[in-house]
Amino acid sequence: MKPVKVGLLGLGTVGTGVVRILEGHQEDLSSQVGSPIIIEKIAVKHADKQRSIEIDPAKLTEDPWEVIRDPEIDVIVEVMGGVNGTREFMLEALNCGKHIVTANKDLMALYGSEILAKATEKQCDVFYEASVAGGIPIIRTLIEGFSSDRIIKIMGIVNGTTNYILTKMSQEGTSYEDALAEAKQLGYAEADPTSDVEGLDAARKMAILGTLGFRANVELSDVQVRGISSVSKEDIAYAKRLGYEMKLLGIADRDEEEFSISVQPTMVKKNHPIAAVNGVFNAVYVFGEAVGETMFYGAGAGEMPTATSVVADIVAVVKNLKLGVNGLKSIVPYKPKKLKSDEQICYKNFLLLQVADKAGVLAQITQAFAEYNVSLESVVQSPNADTPDAEIMIVTHRASRANMEQVLKYFEGLEVIRRVKSVYRVEG
Ligand code: HSE
Repeated sequence: MKPVKVGLLGLGTVGTGVVRILEGHQEDLSSQVGSPIIIEKIAVKHADKQRSIEIDPAKLTEDPWEVIRDPEIDVIVEVMGGVNGTREFMLEALNCGKHIVTANKDLMALYGSEILAKATEKQCDVFYEASVAGGIPIIRTLIEGFSSDRIIKIMGIVNGTTNYILTKMSQEGTSYEDALAEAKQLGYAEADPTSDVEGLDAARKMAILGTLGFRANVELSDVQVRGISSVSKEDIAYAKRLGYEMKLLGIADRDEEEFSISVQPTMVKKNHPIAAVNGVFNAVYVFGEAVGETMFYGAGAGEMPTATSVVADIVAVVKNLKLGVNGLKSIVPYKPKKLKSDEQICYKNFLLLQVADKAGVLAQITQAFAEYNVSLESVVQSPNADTPDAEIMIVTHRASRANMEQVLKYFEGLEVIRRVKSVYRVEG
């Protein structure tokens, strides 16, 4: 049995996990694919760095091109991260006829269609299971498990850092700033947390899930993004009072052939399964026309969970190699992209208003909603302890984004509304 040779680009957290699994599960893996899978070469930044695993120094190189162009290597596994350099590495690897496994969501969200086009031209595989929700096999599930269904809606908690922060705020009443500081201390949030807290990391993952779910080429710029940095302790307390949890949700939903994709802090009804996903865990809820509700839960990051997905992709490539086929047909988008307009994007909304506490205020507010055809589900008023004003919490029925924008604009001209304190999407 001729071994299949793998070249690794990167030996950080995920790369180390890949080596551990390939070595530790070698027997099982070769029984599954019919030949040993061995790591031939590894490109690293510093070859003489101390590592937590033993690696034959002869396998290490500081030159990624040496790995990419090695004629002995069948599969290139990219676990370096970032897009600077990796795009060129991937394109050249495909030019050299190598199959690719990558854990890189930035790369796939930004350059996925270019890489898949090159792979199609070169008849090579590209797998990227670990790029979304680390250890949850959601990409394979969307491609294979749902191939017979039409996906109507995907809702994802696909960023563990923000889920940790929101869980802390909800369960312990911690402020956003303190919860973020703790997430940094625990190593979940980066020193510059912008990509996580402003929803960009989740948006990249939703672009990938949307492309696979709707079989159309969703680009990052198609995803409407709002992060959690403006979510206050007070918002979360109000959400809880009304029976909701606050979650940073990626939502991709479709009506007929038109769809929308967004990432935003969302108030989710407590009895929805995704409301119970806490801490750094990830979950993806998928509603299929035929199957109905499904949900996939697990670790979204970390050495071994992410490496599990990377190695499963290597196994998939090797199985295809043995069969003399590639799996691209099922992952290259084949439908035209039809994005919903603001008139077509409909959902429930929560609004928290600070208003003058006098006769006729509620009438003026409800008049604005009536004017723009937004129906209300509930209205709750309570005094504001610090001012003579009152606070009004409103939950609307499903309304179009366009109509809600009109209502908010109308509010700007209403003297009795002191401030629109918060507006959130509501699900469940
Ligand atoms: N920063 C990401 C998260 C890690 O917090 O989920 C994996 O993409």
